[in-house]
Amino acid sequence: MKILTIDNVRNLIHKVGLTCFFQRVMNTMELDFSHWNEFNLSPRHATHYAHGVIELMPCSNKHLYSFKYVNGHPQNPAKGQLSVVAIGLLSEVSSGYPLMITEMTLLTALRTAITGVLAAKYLARPDSKKLAIIGTGAQSEFQVMCFASFFPLDEVRYYDSDSLAMKKFAKNMTGESFQLVACQNVIEAVSAADIVVTATAAKKKQCLFTVNDIAQGTHIHAMGGDCPNKTELDIVLLKQAKVVVEYLPQSLIEGEIQQCSENNVYAELWELVSNKKSGRVNAQEVTVFDSVGFALEDFSILRVVYALAEDYQLGTDLTLIPELDDPKNLYGLISDVTQQPRF
Ligand SMILES: NC(=O)c1ccc[n+]([C@@H]2O[C@H](COP(=O)([O-])OP(=O)(O)OC[C@H]3O[C@@H](n4cnc5c(N)ncnc54)[C@H](O)[C@@H]3O)[C@@H](O)[C@H]2O)c1
Repeated sequence: MKILTIDNVRNLIHKVGLTCFFQRVMNTMELDFSHWNEFNLSPRHATHYAHGVIELMPCSNKHLYSFKYVNGHPQNPAKGQLSVVAIGLLSEVSSGYPLMITEMTLLTALRTAITGVLAAKYLARPDSKKLAIIGTGAQSEFQVMCFASFFPLDEVRYYDSDSLAMKKFAKNMTGESFQLVACQNVIEAVSAADIVVTATAAKKKQCLFTVNDIAQGTHIHAMGGDCPNKTELDIVLLKQAKVVVEYLPQSLIEGEIQQCSENNVYAELWELVSNKKSGRVNAQEVTVFDSVGFALEDFSILRVVYALAEDYQLGTDLTLIPELDDPKNLYGLISDVTQQPRF
């Protein structure tokens, strides 16, 4: 079984190139969403604590099974730890044998950005040039770089309540093709944007801005609110906007739409990808992709990464599964040990 470390995944992204990697995962994810009915889907198993959440996210089709272990602890950065860390596993359905265990902290940031752009392909104006991001923490640069790969961005406006996070973001984004505009507050950032990404981490109900603070035709990728009582958007805005979610049973519990009802949801993302429903229909409507993160997105990136790791011979093969001449003789692995004297 292959083990992929952080260094292996970094190496893989360097070899493939970030834009090509985005494109390859995007193509695979779009294909997987178009085969929605062939997947075994379920809301994730979430265990909530006062300060955070730990989740298990399974997904499978006839060929492959995947799951991710992931957390969400908004107070971690104050202790020098990430808010979100993850590990993933991919296995073959025919035998049930695991194929790969991999780091998924980087892969989660990448797949969340790719999912956001996939939704924006159907919901944002294709000529969107100005993107605003609220919350410039760990996820932020991945979001901006992915949107910049698929939209003709010429300006990125950004705001975070932590000025150090803004400095870090500016340093990482310096030299990219778009102009950076540091904003003094949320309204300054979002009021002149075509696309708004909300990527804040706070274990509470926030209202970052109202519908009156944004321009007609704005598309919002709301990705920071992803737990019960952890939201970012105004309820009035949600009721007026065209809202698309990933998987309704999970989003009703964890998404922005926990504040209203399924009557406020226009579609699940797969319905846009499969052309069952149209996305944006005019340049004026306000659209929201209410993203909480769904297991199918992890499935897609895991199968791409596994294929690439095979192609580039990355990762280490470790024996975590017994290799036996006689599969009924598992005890043979320890039969000699048990002959040792006990103490
Ligand atoms: N939808 C998904 O699939 C998905 C995937 C990954 C992470 N997330 C969520 O995205 C959020 C961001 O993740 P991260 O890893 O970047 O977290 P992070 O802790 O690294 O960064 C969050 C940033 O938000 C800022 N912030 C908090 N409240 C704010 C406010 N009111 N105004 C401006 N800034 C504010 C913080 O100062 C911090 O810099 C988290 O809530 C996380 O759970 C969602």
